Amino acid sequence: MSQRAQLDAIKPAQRSRLRELALAAAENSYSPYSRFRVGAALLLEDGNIVTGCNVENCSYRLTSCAEQGAIARAVAKFGPTLRLRAVAVANLNRAASMPCGACRQTLTEFGDDDTLILYPGDGGREEETTLGELLPNAFRPESLEPRDESR
Ligand code: THU
Repeated sequence: MSQRAQLDAIKPAQRSRLRELALAAAENSYSPYSRFRVGAALLLEDGNIVTGCNVENCSYRLTSCAEQGAIARAVAKFGPTLRLRAVAVANLNRAASMPCGACRQTLTEFGDDDTLILYPGDGGREEETTLGELLPNAFRPESLEPRDESR
């Protein structure tokens, strides 16, 4: 299937559902420091959906983003071979937000250039893009091949 066809295969109703689930997941956000409440919903290749929210820490750098929490849950539940068809991000702050740089790399581990990314833009506008647009020329698992076995 072409990239366009793969993206079109995710129908508007399914996109709306993913955005809703991401928003609902943000309700459980633990974000006492930033007060920025984020949720994410992952649509897996097999049709399963897994959500997550951001979990902050008083040692600020240990904060886990919503996307990262969702990925950890998804792998724990469905195993290491899962692949991402789409990811929705939402926040309860009525703010624009898209996956941060670290999350783009985390999503790339399980997604492809044509993984659909749904996110809120300015004024709450429903925006979408692809993982390949967000992180072009990514460092990927294949980038580790061939391994240097001499040491
Ligand atoms: N955050 C996410 O959960 N996902 C992102 O992609 C952007 C940032 C969270 C991390 C932190 O808890 C709060 O938003 C403010 O940066």
